[in-house]
Amino acid sequence: MSTDIIEVLPKIAAQDAVAELAIFGGTPAFDKKLYVGRPNIGSRERLLERINDLLDRRWLSNRGPYVDEFEQRIAEMAGTKHCIAMCNATVALEITIRAAELAGEVIVPSFTFVATAHALKWQEITPVFCDIDPATHNIDPDRVEAMITPRTTGIIGVHVWGRPCDVEALTTIARRRGLKLLFDAAHAFGCSYKGHMIGSFGDAEVFSFHATKFLNAFEGGAVTTNDDELAARIRLMKNFGFLGYDNVIYIGTNGKMSEVSAAMGLTGLESLEEFIVANRRNYEQYRRELADIPGVHLATYDETEKCNYQYVVLEIDEGVTQVSRDHLVEVLHAENVLARRYFYPGCHQMEPYRSYFPHAGLLLPETERLTGRVMSLPTGTAVGRDEVHRVCQIIRLVVAHGPDVSARLSMAVATREPAFEPAGILVEE
Ligand SMILES: Cc1ncc(COP(=O)(O)O)c(C=O)c1O
Repeated sequence: MSTDIIEVLPKIAAQDAVAELAIFGGTPAFDKKLYVGRPNIGSRERLLERINDLLDRRWLSNRGPYVDEFEQRIAEMAGTKHCIAMCNATVALEITIRAAELAGEVIVPSFTFVATAHALKWQEITPVFCDIDPATHNIDPDRVEAMITPRTTGIIGVHVWGRPCDVEALTTIARRRGLKLLFDAAHAFGCSYKGHMIGSFGDAEVFSFHATKFLNAFEGGAVTTNDDELAARIRLMKNFGFLGYDNVIYIGTNGKMSEVSAAMGLTGLESLEEFIVANRRNYEQYRRELADIPGVHLATYDETEKCNYQYVVLEIDEGVTQVSRDHLVEVLHAENVLARRYFYPGCHQMEPYRSYFPHAGLLLPETERLTGRVMSLPTGTAVGRDEVHRVCQIIRLVVAHGPDVSARLSMAVATREPAFEPAGILVEE
């Protein structure tokens, strides 16, 4: 064991460092839980000013001035003609899918948050799961064509971790095969592809401003598009189909963003650079401190593009570490480091998809492999240098004693509850 570890975790003596881990009865390294996606708040004063203002105005929803301003700001930043703010990204996806007239089958990655698939299935459209490129974790365009059938009407790419899909290749396929192309850009606000901001690609893109996202509106989402007709349909649909006071011209639903959400979004936008600086600082530190740990690979970002650095993602090569991703996550949870197994176990392993396509995994070897080895670590403005350092030291310790940790956890498996709660129960998303 290195002297560095002894220095940082003084509670751990060299000879019984592993035994002193919290999972084996030691004291947790952190008194308070460290979360993935703890909300960035921005200026509380500015937020409260805006809330007072909207209360004074008594304009709480129905496209008030803050929603208008938020939409303008997002459209400017994404470089698009239109932005339609919504109550969340799931409803924004559902409405966009409907407005773009998708039907039958739509090709999506299984390696995504389940909302991407649910937004289709909710409308009786079949999500056809496509495998990913292991280098990018994004939908693999080389595999998309093989999934196209006469029933296919569209493709939804997901910019996982904010790393853009191969937009060019997907655009070429969509044009050649006459398919609609949408992007789930829930992770990718503030990111660019080939020098252009995410938001302007395909027929439309959808952002999430959920509390756990690096820019949040408490709950929120937005669609950006350059297509005038599509934008007009989405606007109608998210407001029950109303055109004017009494005139309903379309089937619609309620996808409106509230003024208080827009107030939060606008406040966050004012601190956006600060959020990115904190995320990037944490990411760089994780990168430095984890670089020499064998079998632990940090997902990297293209330094030539804009990026929000909101996810610190590790792949654990168990053949090298001799300790599984799940065991590492369990150890971290016991230390109060709530690392997450995103996107575990993949949409195709969740209901109702698991029952519809029990053998989908056979077509998704890279997705199956990745969902068994990927995890994300706490970052954001609530996480500082000391915390990152200590998290890295725990990972270093566990990997340095991989076989020992595995053996102890496997031996104990019959008698103990897992230290981490199943995905989905733990945090909202
Ligand atoms: C890839 C992806 N798509 C869609 C969503 C849904 O976003 P929302 O919570 O705003 O509905 C999320 C949320 O975590 C996500 O990660």
